This record gives sequence, C-alpha cells and structure tokens, in this order.
Amino acid sequence: MGKLVITGGARLHGTIRSSGSKNSTLAIMAGALLGKGETILRNVPQIGDVRTMMDMLRALGVHCEEVSRGVVRIDATEIGTTEAPYELVKRMRASFSVLGPILARKGYAKVAMPGGCDIGARPIDLHVKGMQALGALVNIEHGYVEAEGDSLHGAQVYFNLPSAGATQHIMTTACLVEGTTIISNAAMEPEVVELANMLRQMGARIHGAGTPTVRIEGVKELHGTDYTIVADRMEAGTFAVAATITRGDVTIEDVRPEHIEPFVLKLREVGAVVDMYDNAMRVRCNARPMATDIMTMPHPGFPTDLQQPFAAMLSIAEGVSVVTENVYERRFKYVNEMIRMGADIKQDGRSAVITGVPKLTGAQVTAPDLRGGAALICAGLAAEGVTEVSGLEHVERGYENLAGKLQELGADVGPVSNNIERETILV
Ligand code: EPZ
Repeated sequence: MGKLVITGGARLHGTIRSSGSKNSTLAIMAGALLGKGETILRNVPQIGDVRTMMDMLRALGVHCEEVSRGVVRIDATEIGTTEAPYELVKRMRASFSVLGPILARKGYAKVAMPGGCDIGARPIDLHVKGMQALGALVNIEHGYVEAEGDSLHGAQVYFNLPSAGATQHIMTTACLVEGTTIISNAAMEPEVVELANMLRQMGARIHGAGTPTVRIEGVKELHGTDYTIVADRMEAGTFAVAATITRGDVTIEDVRPEHIEPFVLKLREVGAVVDMYDNAMRVRCNARPMATDIMTMPHPGFPTDLQQPFAAMLSIAEGVSVVTENVYERRFKYVNEMIRMGADIKQDGRSAVITGVPKLTGAQVTAPDLRGGAALICAGLAAEGVTEVSGLEHVERGYENLAGKLQELGADVGPVSNNIERETILV
C-alpha cells in the first residue's frame, strides 16, 4: 500500500502542466478497437488505469504498446478474441466498454460485468438497453454479458439519465452499424466530444456530440488515426483546489477553460481569483475561503469527480456549506477520514453539511477511492502537522505523478518517486 507523507502549511506557488485526461484516454482506447489499422495516441497519462486498458487490448489480441513516454500505438486490424476477462474488467469498470466495438467488428462479444466500486453500484442497464436497441441479443449470466448480432441496425436510443459511459459506448458501437442511430438525452461531457472527434478522424459520421442529441450514420469500416489526448480537467481542478486551500498562487497549463467552467465559477464564489487563458488557468487565494453550496450534476453541472477535493477545501472555509452528490450514491467515504483531521461534517445520504473550521490537524488517513484520496491529500496540504495518506494506489490509478507535481509547487510531500517505479513495485 503506497503512502504519502505531507507536512501541511506550505502555500503552493508556481506552474505545473496538466497530464492527458484519464477518462478521455480510456474511452478513446476502446474506440480505437473499431479501426482497421494503426492508431497513435499522444499525451497519454502514465497512470494505472491506462496500463489496465492496455492489458485489456492485449488480452483481446490487439497490438498495443507504449512506443515512447505518453505515446501509445494500437493496431486493431485484427481482434484475436471476443472475450474480455473478468480479472481485467474487475480492475477497472471502463474496460467494459470494449464490448460494443468487439460486437460491431466480430458479431459477438463476451465481457465480464463490471462490479460496483468504491463510489456506487455502477449499473450497466443503459449500456445493455442501447445494445439491444441496435438489435443485439444480450444475455447476462454467470457474471458475464454476452452480446451477439451480425445484422445490427440503426436505432433511436433514449437514456433515462445522461450517462457518459453509455453515451460513449453506444456512440462508438453505432459507428459500424448500418443505418442511423440517434441517442437522446445523451451525456455532454467533454470526454464524449473528444471521443467523437477521434472517431470522426477514423472515418465515422457523428453529429451532435456535446449536445443532448447525438446522431451517428453507420459506415462499413474505420481506419486508424493519430490523436492527442486532451488535458485532464479533473487533475486541473484538483490542483486549483490545492492552490486555494493553501492560499497559494498556481498556474495550471494545458487546461481547456470551457471544460472546467462550472467548477471555476464555484471556485470564484469561495473567493479564489481565477484567471483563464487560452490554454491555462491561474488560481490565487490570499484569504480563508468562504463557504458555498455545491450540487453535482452531469455536465455542464458541477462535476462529481471534483466534489471530494472541493469539499475538503470547504472544510476550512468561513461558514457552513452544503454538498449534494446527485450522481453517485456512495461518494462521501472520505468524510470519516476528514473528521479524523478535525473537519466538522455531518453527512446523511446524498448530502453533507460542512461547518468550516479554522484549521485541520494532520493525521494518519486512508484513501477510500481515487477522488477521496485526492481530497485527503488536499486537506493534508493545509493541515497543521503531518498527514500520512495510505491507500495511494487508488490515487495513482488516475493522477500522474501527483506527489512530484505538488513538490514542484513547494508542497512538503514525500516520499516522491516516479509513479512508474512505484507502480511497478505495487504491481
Ligand atoms: C464516467 O463514469 C467517469 N469515468 C467517471 O469518473 C465520472 O464520474 C462519470 O463518468 C460522470 O461524469 C470514466 O470516464 C472512466 P456515468 P461512467 O455512466 O461513465 C448511472 C473518476 O473519478 N448509470 O455517467 O461510469 C450511474 O450509476 C470517475 O474519474 C446507470 O444508472 O458514469 C451513475 O449514477 C468516477 N446505468 C450515473 O449514471 C448505466 O447503465 C453516472 O454514471 C450507466 C450509468
């Protein structure tokens, strides 16, 4: 179990560059399965989840290798097998999204059902509904989802809620399905738009990605492409919180302002000064943050992935804040750890009432999940004394070299080693 030791109090200052987006990379790697030919992905983050997805593609008999740091070459001309193993899907839910592309290419796919995870049940009913609408016969038994159909057809698919994963999954699959598919109440996350951009470069015909209605006209074949992964808006937001909670002055390069606007507007409400540039943002805060309420919603609402870090910052704000988590049912597991650091948080169901305290005190805490771990690290940066965050493997799934970047900004954190080495040790 990796551990990070933080001595709080340093005001972060300086500039860091955001890595490539975890969530965009994972969807795009699944989408690359559609291409008969070589796809080169650039700015790929060096994180655990990407390694898991690379393992998944190789398990499917697809050529997949990191040709240089951050550059991954995928050649899905041939897909050797139609079955995705449980031990990989168990490690990372997003790998379930290889089902549709394999089905579209091979007429059959068998992929282990993803289990629930640290933040909720994570059902796949919308994914299944979409596959069935496209004409697939779907059978779920023994923990696997089997989908077959060699005469899939375009369909109208309505999602009861705008699921990012289901939108990406059905949009990808429909690219090789004869006819027109329309997804209504589609998710509008930037990662949906990025995936559509990459698929269009491969020859797909997609319109409306980023709006509630996405239209896909199926084509017979897609080729490979060369695509650069967009910056990770959740990493950028996490550093913006770290700057605010430590009353620092941090510039985050390689972030797309339009991808993070809902979060920035709330950050300004607590008193941070946020300057947005074409491809960067500067975050300054020279006083104790003020309380505010946040309600997570699908994009363009406040992103659920930044709820936990933002709440950590509210724990030392002036006043009472109410945090409502509308997307996942179990995304407050970090609260008990925060309380051990002196936070005053009363959580009930999907809401947490946070009464800001003047200071937190360092403690030994355990990261419950990826973003909960990021929240505890942000809290440790501001706490009085030493905080030891264990369970770092959760954090390293989704943040590239977080400790090293924090150290570059003047944080007193350690031990800092190259994630790859630590990842190797952990693996
Ligand atoms: C993606 O997960 C992200 N993960 C999540 O980031 C992110 O929180 C989420 O989108 C929302 O933006 C990746 O992209 C790998 P959803 P996804 O389908 O696609 C319900 C992180 O921290 N739902 O939009 O799984 C579901 O239970 C991760 O980086 C169904 O009911 O999210 C949830 O309540 C965490 N049925 C809501 O939709 C379904 O078939 C949103 O889920 C699918 C989802």
